[in-house]
Amino acid sequence: MTQTTEKRMVVEVRDLKKCFPSKRTITDAIAKKPAQVLTAVDGVSLEIREGETLGLVGESGCGKSTLARTLLRLYEPDGGQIFFNGVDVTNMKGTELRKQRRDFQMIFQDPYSSLNPRKSVRATLEEALRVHNIIEPGPDQKERIERRIYTLLDLVGMNRNSIDRYPGEFSGGQRQRIGIARALAVNPSFIVADEPVSALDVSIQAQVLNLLTEIQAKENLAFLFISHDLRVVRLISHQVAVMYLGKVIEYAPTEDLYETPHHPYTQILMKAAPVLDATNRNRDYAIEGEPPSPLNLPTGCRFHPRCPYATDKCREEQPELREVAPGCKVACHYPLNLPEQK
Ligand SMILES: Nc1ncnc2c1ncn2[C@@H]1O[C@H](COP(=O)(O)OP(=O)(O)OP(=O)(O)O)[C@@H](O)[C@H]1O
Ligand SMILES: [Mg+2]
Repeated sequence: MTQTTEKRMVVEVRDLKKCFPSKRTITDAIAKKPAQVLTAVDGVSLEIREGETLGLVGESGCGKSTLARTLLRLYEPDGGQIFFNGVDVTNMKGTELRKQRRDFQMIFQDPYSSLNPRKSVRATLEEALRVHNIIEPGPDQKERIERRIYTLLDLVGMNRNSIDRYPGEFSGGQRQRIGIARALAVNPSFIVADEPVSALDVSIQAQVLNLLTEIQAKENLAFLFISHDLRVVRLISHQVAVMYLGKVIEYAPTEDLYETPHHPYTQILMKAAPVLDATNRNRDYAIEGEPPSPLNLPTGCRFHPRCPYATDKCREEQPELREVAPGCKVACHYPLNLPEQK
Protein backbone atom coordinates (compact mmCIF):
# COMPACT_ATOMS: atom_id res chain seq x y z
CA MET A 1 0.00 0.00 0.00
CA THR A 2 2.93 2.30 0.57
CA GLN A 3 4.06 1.71 -3.02
CA THR A 4 0.89 3.14 -4.55
CA THR A 5 2.69 6.01 -6.25
CA GLU A 6 4.63 3.60 -8.47
CA LYS A 7 1.52 1.94 -9.83
CA ARG A 8 -0.20 3.17 -12.99
CA MET A 9 -3.29 5.30 -12.48
CA VAL A 10 -6.30 3.60 -14.08
CA VAL A 11 -9.25 5.70 -12.95
CA GLU A 12 -9.23 9.32 -11.94
CA VAL A 13 -12.42 11.19 -11.18
CA ARG A 14 -12.47 14.88 -10.35
CA ASP A 15 -15.39 16.68 -8.81
CA LEU A 16 -18.00 14.45 -10.47
CA LYS A 17 -21.64 15.53 -10.31
CA LYS A 18 -24.84 13.80 -11.28
CA CYS A 19 -28.31 15.28 -10.84
CA PHE A 20 -31.73 13.85 -11.53
CA PRO A 21 -34.89 15.88 -12.00
CA SER A 22 -37.22 14.75 -9.24
CA LYS A 23 -40.65 13.51 -10.23
CA ARG A 24 -43.34 16.17 -9.79
CA THR A 25 -46.57 15.09 -8.24
CA ILE A 26 -49.90 16.30 -9.64
CA THR A 27 -50.24 18.55 -6.58
CA ASP A 28 -46.87 20.13 -7.41
CA ALA A 29 -47.98 20.70 -10.99
CA ILE A 30 -51.28 22.30 -9.92
CA ALA A 31 -49.45 24.51 -7.42
CA LYS A 32 -47.04 25.37 -10.28
CA LYS A 33 -44.11 24.34 -8.11
CA PRO A 34 -40.93 24.21 -10.18
CA ALA A 35 -39.40 20.76 -10.71
CA GLN A 36 -36.76 20.07 -8.10
CA VAL A 37 -33.33 18.68 -8.80
CA LEU A 38 -31.88 15.85 -6.81
CA THR A 39 -28.08 15.88 -6.68
CA ALA A 40 -27.24 12.20 -6.26
CA VAL A 41 -23.48 12.67 -6.67
CA ASP A 42 -22.16 16.01 -5.54
CA GLY A 43 -18.53 16.71 -6.37
CA VAL A 44 -16.83 13.35 -5.84
CA SER A 45 -13.13 12.86 -6.58
CA LEU A 46 -11.35 9.53 -6.45
CA GLU A 47 -8.36 7.64 -7.81
CA ILE A 48 -7.78 3.95 -8.42
CA ARG A 49 -4.45 2.48 -9.50
CA GLU A 50 -3.75 -0.84 -11.21
CA GLY A 51 -4.02 -3.86 -8.93
CA GLU A 52 -5.92 -1.82 -6.32
CA THR A 53 -9.43 -1.88 -4.95
CA LEU A 54 -11.29 1.16 -3.77
CA GLY A 55 -14.15 0.17 -1.47
CA LEU A 56 -17.20 2.45 -1.54
CA VAL A 57 -19.54 2.31 1.44
CA GLY A 58 -22.53 4.21 2.70
CA GLU A 59 -26.20 3.84 3.48
CA SER A 60 -28.82 3.02 0.91
CA GLY A 61 -29.55 5.98 -1.36
CA CYS A 62 -26.30 7.87 -0.68
CA GLY A 63 -25.33 7.71 -4.36
CA LYS A 64 -22.95 4.74 -4.66
CA SER A 65 -24.53 3.16 -7.75
CA THR A 66 -25.11 6.54 -9.37
CA LEU A 67 -21.45 7.40 -8.87
CA ALA A 68 -20.44 4.06 -10.45
CA ARG A 69 -22.81 4.44 -13.38
CA THR A 70 -21.75 8.02 -14.01
CA LEU A 71 -18.07 7.25 -13.95
CA LEU A 72 -18.66 4.36 -16.37
CA ARG A 73 -20.46 6.89 -18.59
CA LEU A 74 -23.73 4.95 -18.37
CA TYR A 75 -25.16 8.26 -17.11
CA GLU A 76 -24.22 11.64 -18.51
CA PRO A 77 -22.22 13.53 -15.88
CA ASP A 78 -23.48 17.00 -14.93
CA GLY A 79 -20.04 18.21 -13.95
CA GLY A 80 -16.48 17.12 -13.28
CA GLN A 81 -14.03 14.98 -15.21
CA ILE A 82 -13.38 11.27 -15.70
CA PHE A 83 -10.05 9.86 -16.89
CA PHE A 84 -9.39 6.23 -17.81
CA ASN A 85 -5.76 5.28 -18.26
CA GLY A 86 -4.99 8.98 -18.64
CA VAL A 87 -7.65 9.57 -21.34
CA ASP A 88 -10.38 12.11 -20.64
CA VAL A 89 -13.65 10.25 -21.35
CA THR A 90 -15.97 12.84 -19.78
CA ASN A 91 -17.44 13.99 -23.06
CA MET A 92 -16.59 11.04 -25.27
CA LYS A 93 -19.35 9.79 -27.55
CA GLY A 94 -20.23 7.10 -30.11
CA THR A 95 -17.62 4.70 -31.41
CA GLU A 96 -14.85 6.28 -29.40
CA LEU A 97 -16.78 5.72 -26.16
CA ARG A 98 -17.71 2.17 -27.17
CA LYS A 99 -14.03 1.37 -27.69
CA GLN A 100 -13.19 2.74 -24.25
CA ARG A 101 -16.04 0.74 -22.70
CA ARG A 102 -14.22 -2.46 -23.45
CA ASP A 103 -11.71 -1.37 -20.86
CA PHE A 104 -14.22 -1.02 -18.05
CA GLN A 105 -16.74 -3.61 -17.01
CA MET A 106 -19.37 -4.07 -14.36
CA ILE A 107 -20.31 -7.02 -12.15
CA PHE A 108 -23.86 -6.77 -10.88
CA GLN A 109 -25.45 -7.50 -7.55
CA ASP A 110 -27.97 -10.01 -8.70
CA PRO A 111 -26.53 -13.02 -10.49
CA TYR A 112 -30.10 -14.22 -11.09
CA SER A 113 -31.24 -11.33 -13.23
CA SER A 114 -27.96 -10.23 -14.81
CA LEU A 115 -27.70 -13.37 -16.96
CA ASN A 116 -30.07 -14.21 -19.78
CA PRO A 117 -31.75 -17.51 -18.76
CA ARG A 118 -32.08 -18.56 -22.41
CA LYS A 119 -28.38 -18.23 -23.16
CA SER A 120 -25.88 -20.97 -22.38
CA VAL A 121 -22.55 -20.10 -20.77
CA ARG A 122 -20.96 -20.47 -24.19
CA ALA A 123 -23.44 -18.07 -25.82
CA THR A 124 -23.12 -15.50 -23.00
CA LEU A 125 -19.34 -15.42 -23.11
CA GLU A 126 -19.18 -15.63 -26.90
CA GLU A 127 -21.46 -12.60 -27.15
CA ALA A 128 -19.17 -10.59 -24.87
CA LEU A 129 -16.15 -11.59 -26.98
CA ARG A 130 -17.88 -10.77 -30.26
CA VAL A 131 -19.37 -7.41 -29.22
CA HIS A 132 -15.91 -6.07 -28.59
CA ASN A 133 -14.15 -8.02 -31.39
CA ILE A 134 -11.85 -9.64 -28.88
CA ILE A 135 -11.10 -12.63 -31.10
CA GLU A 136 -9.76 -11.70 -34.55
CA PRO A 137 -11.83 -13.08 -37.45
CA GLY A 138 -10.23 -15.94 -39.37
CA PRO A 139 -10.70 -19.59 -40.35
CA ASP A 140 -10.20 -21.00 -36.85
CA GLN A 141 -12.11 -18.23 -35.03
CA LYS A 142 -14.62 -20.68 -33.57
CA GLU A 143 -11.89 -22.79 -32.00
CA ARG A 144 -10.11 -19.71 -30.65
CA ILE A 145 -13.36 -18.45 -29.11
CA GLU A 146 -13.88 -21.83 -27.47
CA ARG A 147 -10.34 -21.88 -26.11
CA ARG A 148 -10.83 -18.38 -24.68
CA ILE A 149 -14.10 -19.48 -23.03
CA TYR A 150 -12.35 -22.46 -21.44
CA THR A 151 -9.59 -20.17 -20.16
CA LEU A 152 -12.22 -17.88 -18.64
CA LEU A 153 -14.01 -20.81 -16.99
CA ASP A 154 -10.68 -21.98 -15.54
CA LEU A 155 -9.98 -18.47 -14.29
CA VAL A 156 -13.27 -18.25 -12.38
CA GLY A 157 -13.04 -21.82 -11.08
CA MET A 158 -15.91 -23.26 -13.13
CA ASN A 159 -15.86 -26.75 -14.55
CA ARG A 160 -15.22 -26.77 -18.31
CA ASN A 161 -18.20 -29.01 -18.87
CA SER A 162 -20.50 -26.19 -17.76
CA ILE A 163 -19.93 -24.50 -21.13
CA ASP A 164 -23.21 -25.74 -22.64
CA ARG A 165 -25.34 -25.36 -19.55
CA TYR A 166 -27.85 -22.59 -18.77
CA PRO A 167 -28.01 -20.12 -15.84
CA GLY A 168 -30.99 -21.98 -14.31
CA GLU A 169 -28.78 -25.01 -13.76
CA PHE A 170 -26.33 -23.15 -11.51
CA SER A 171 -26.26 -21.96 -7.92
CA GLY A 172 -26.11 -18.23 -7.08
CA GLY A 173 -22.36 -18.39 -6.48
CA GLN A 174 -21.76 -20.19 -9.78
CA ARG A 175 -23.89 -17.65 -11.62
CA GLN A 176 -21.85 -14.85 -10.10
CA ARG A 177 -18.72 -16.64 -11.35
CA ILE A 178 -20.21 -16.62 -14.84
CA GLY A 179 -20.96 -12.89 -14.44
CA ILE A 180 -17.33 -12.37 -13.46
CA ALA A 181 -16.14 -14.43 -16.45
CA ARG A 182 -18.30 -12.28 -18.73
CA ALA A 183 -16.74 -9.11 -17.32
CA LEU A 184 -13.23 -10.56 -17.73
CA ALA A 185 -13.86 -11.78 -21.28
CA VAL A 186 -12.86 -8.44 -22.79
CA ASN A 187 -9.60 -8.04 -20.81
CA PRO A 188 -10.70 -4.91 -18.96
CA SER A 189 -8.35 -2.82 -16.86
CA PHE A 190 -11.12 -1.64 -14.52
CA ILE A 191 -14.08 -3.45 -12.96
CA VAL A 192 -16.91 -1.99 -10.96
CA ALA A 193 -18.54 -4.55 -8.68
CA ASP A 194 -21.80 -3.14 -7.29
CA GLU A 195 -22.79 -5.24 -4.27
CA PRO A 196 -21.48 -8.37 -6.02
CA VAL A 197 -21.89 -10.69 -3.04
CA SER A 198 -24.84 -9.26 -1.12
CA ALA A 199 -27.34 -11.59 -2.83
CA LEU A 200 -25.25 -14.65 -1.93
CA ASP A 201 -25.11 -16.84 1.17
CA VAL A 202 -22.29 -16.03 3.55
CA SER A 203 -20.24 -19.16 2.80
CA ILE A 204 -20.44 -18.41 -0.91
CA GLN A 205 -19.66 -14.72 -0.34
CA ALA A 206 -16.21 -15.64 0.96
CA GLN A 207 -15.51 -17.83 -2.09
CA VAL A 208 -16.50 -15.10 -4.54
CA LEU A 209 -14.48 -12.48 -2.64
CA ASN A 210 -11.43 -14.76 -2.70
CA LEU A 211 -11.94 -15.30 -6.39
CA LEU A 212 -12.09 -11.53 -7.03
CA THR A 213 -8.92 -10.99 -5.02
CA GLU A 214 -7.09 -13.78 -6.90
CA ILE A 215 -8.19 -12.50 -10.28
CA GLN A 216 -7.20 -8.97 -9.37
CA ALA A 217 -3.69 -10.10 -8.47
CA LYS A 218 -3.36 -12.21 -11.63
CA GLU A 219 -4.70 -9.58 -14.01
CA ASN A 220 -3.53 -6.46 -12.15
CA LEU A 221 -7.03 -5.00 -12.34
CA ALA A 222 -8.33 -1.83 -10.74
CA PHE A 223 -11.57 -2.44 -8.81
CA LEU A 224 -14.31 -0.22 -7.48
CA PHE A 225 -16.06 -2.39 -4.94
CA ILE A 226 -19.42 -1.15 -3.69
CA SER A 227 -20.97 -2.61 -0.57
CA HIS A 228 -23.15 -1.86 2.41
CA ASP A 229 -21.07 -4.25 4.40
CA LEU A 230 -18.05 -2.73 6.07
CA ARG A 231 -16.56 -6.10 6.90
CA VAL A 232 -16.66 -7.25 3.31
CA VAL A 233 -15.12 -3.97 2.17
CA ARG A 234 -12.30 -4.33 4.67
CA LEU A 235 -11.41 -7.78 3.34
CA ILE A 236 -11.06 -6.68 -0.24
CA SER A 237 -10.13 -2.98 -0.37
CA HIS A 238 -6.82 -1.13 -0.32
CA GLN A 239 -8.53 2.23 0.11
CA VAL A 240 -12.05 3.04 1.30
CA ALA A 241 -14.31 5.97 0.49
CA VAL A 242 -17.32 6.59 2.73
CA MET A 243 -20.25 8.37 1.09
CA TYR A 244 -23.00 10.37 2.73
CA LEU A 245 -25.76 12.05 0.73
CA GLY A 246 -23.82 12.34 -2.51
CA LYS A 247 -20.48 13.34 -1.00
CA VAL A 248 -17.39 11.45 0.05
CA ILE A 249 -16.96 12.31 3.71
CA GLU A 250 -13.95 10.12 4.48
CA TYR A 251 -11.32 8.59 2.22
CA ALA A 252 -8.36 6.64 3.58
CA PRO A 253 -6.20 3.52 3.29
CA THR A 254 -8.30 0.63 4.58
CA GLU A 255 -6.47 -0.17 7.80
CA ASP A 256 -6.22 3.52 8.75
CA LEU A 257 -9.95 3.95 8.22
CA TYR A 258 -10.86 0.93 10.33
CA GLU A 259 -8.27 1.54 13.04
CA THR A 260 -8.79 5.28 13.37
CA PRO A 261 -11.96 6.55 11.71
CA HIS A 262 -11.89 10.36 11.69
CA HIS A 263 -15.50 11.10 10.72
CA PRO A 264 -18.24 10.59 13.33
CA TYR A 265 -20.38 9.00 10.61
CA THR A 266 -17.69 6.41 9.79
CA GLN A 267 -17.35 5.64 13.48
CA ILE A 268 -21.09 5.17 13.85
CA LEU A 269 -21.26 3.01 10.72
CA MET A 270 -18.64 0.73 12.18
CA LYS A 271 -20.47 0.34 15.45
CA ALA A 272 -23.75 -0.20 13.62
CA ALA A 273 -22.40 -2.65 11.04
CA PRO A 274 -25.01 -5.34 10.60
CA VAL A 275 -24.25 -8.85 11.72
CA LEU A 276 -23.12 -10.72 8.66
CA ASP A 277 -25.45 -13.65 8.40
CA ALA A 278 -27.75 -14.97 5.77
CA THR A 279 -30.97 -13.92 7.51
CA ASN A 280 -29.72 -10.41 8.04
CA ARG A 281 -28.21 -9.58 4.73
CA ASN A 282 -30.83 -7.10 3.66
CA ARG A 283 -30.76 -5.10 6.83
CA ASP A 284 -29.35 -1.63 6.62
CA TYR A 285 -27.23 0.09 9.22
CA ALA A 286 -28.99 0.72 12.49
CA ILE A 287 -28.10 4.38 12.84
CA GLU A 288 -30.28 6.72 14.75
CA GLY A 289 -32.26 9.20 12.71
CA GLU A 290 -33.24 8.93 9.08
CA PRO A 291 -30.80 10.20 6.50
CA PRO A 292 -32.22 13.53 5.30
CA SER A 293 -33.72 13.62 1.83
CA PRO A 294 -31.30 14.54 -0.95
CA LEU A 295 -34.06 16.91 -2.12
CA ASN A 296 -33.98 18.82 1.10
CA LEU A 297 -30.38 18.89 2.18
CA PRO A 298 -29.45 20.27 5.59
CA THR A 299 -27.38 23.44 5.69
CA GLY A 300 -23.71 23.21 6.60
CA CYS A 301 -22.47 19.68 7.15
CA ARG A 302 -24.98 17.23 5.69
CA PHE A 303 -24.47 14.89 8.61
CA HIS A 304 -25.07 17.45 11.34
CA PRO A 305 -28.72 16.52 12.13
CA ARG A 306 -27.55 13.02 13.10
CA CYS A 307 -24.15 13.90 14.53
CA PRO A 308 -23.64 13.69 18.28
CA TYR A 309 -20.88 16.33 18.14
CA ALA A 310 -22.58 18.96 15.94
CA THR A 311 -22.04 22.64 16.78
CA ASP A 312 -23.27 25.90 15.25
CA LYS A 313 -20.33 25.84 12.86
CA CYS A 314 -21.50 22.42 11.58
CA ARG A 315 -25.00 23.77 11.03
CA GLU A 316 -23.68 26.71 9.01
CA GLU A 317 -20.49 25.76 7.19
CA GLN A 318 -20.04 22.84 4.87
CA PRO A 319 -16.73 21.10 5.68
CA GLU A 320 -14.30 20.43 2.82
CA LEU A 321 -12.63 17.05 2.38
CA ARG A 322 -9.09 17.63 3.67
CA GLU A 323 -6.07 15.56 4.65
CA VAL A 324 -5.79 15.18 8.42
CA ALA A 325 -3.21 12.39 8.57
CA PRO A 326 -0.95 10.97 5.82
CA GLY A 327 -3.28 9.72 3.05
CA CYS A 328 -6.39 10.16 5.23
CA LYS A 329 -8.97 12.71 4.15
CA VAL A 330 -12.07 13.73 6.07
CA ALA A 331 -14.84 16.28 5.61
CA CYS A 332 -15.53 17.26 9.21
CA HIS A 333 -14.91 20.42 11.24
CA TYR A 334 -14.01 18.35 14.29
CA PRO A 335 -12.33 15.14 13.10
CA LEU A 336 -11.94 12.36 15.66
CA ASN A 337 -8.79 10.41 16.50
CA LEU A 338 -6.30 12.96 15.20
CA PRO A 339 -2.68 12.07 16.01
CA GLU A 340 -2.46 14.79 18.67
CA GLN A 341 -5.73 13.62 20.30
CA LYS A 342 -4.57 10.05 20.86
N1 LIG B 1 -32.51 7.14 -12.46
C1 LIG B 1 -32.80 7.88 -11.40
N2 LIG B 1 -33.72 8.89 -11.46
C2 LIG B 1 -33.99 9.66 -10.39
N3 LIG B 1 -33.41 9.53 -9.18
C3 LIG B 1 -32.49 8.54 -9.05
C4 LIG B 1 -32.13 7.67 -10.13
N4 LIG B 1 -31.20 6.80 -9.69
C5 LIG B 1 -30.98 7.09 -8.40
N5 LIG B 1 -31.74 8.14 -8.00
C6 LIG B 1 -31.73 8.77 -6.67
O1 LIG B 1 -30.39 9.13 -6.40
C7 LIG B 1 -30.03 8.85 -5.04
C8 LIG B 1 -28.88 7.88 -5.01
O2 LIG B 1 -29.29 6.60 -5.48
P1 LIG B 1 -28.30 5.37 -5.68
O3 LIG B 1 -29.05 4.27 -6.33
O4 LIG B 1 -27.08 5.85 -6.36
O5 LIG B 1 -27.95 4.99 -4.18
P2 LIG B 1 -27.09 3.77 -3.60
O6 LIG B 1 -26.12 4.34 -2.65
O7 LIG B 1 -26.55 2.95 -4.71
O8 LIG B 1 -28.19 2.96 -2.78
P3 LIG B 1 -28.33 1.36 -2.51
O9 LIG B 1 -27.33 1.05 -1.44
O10 LIG B 1 -29.72 1.22 -2.04
O11 LIG B 1 -28.04 0.65 -3.80
C9 LIG B 1 -31.31 8.31 -4.39
O12 LIG B 1 -31.95 9.37 -3.75
C10 LIG B 1 -32.12 7.80 -5.58
O13 LIG B 1 -33.50 7.88 -5.29
MG1 LIG C 1 -26.87 0.94 -5.30
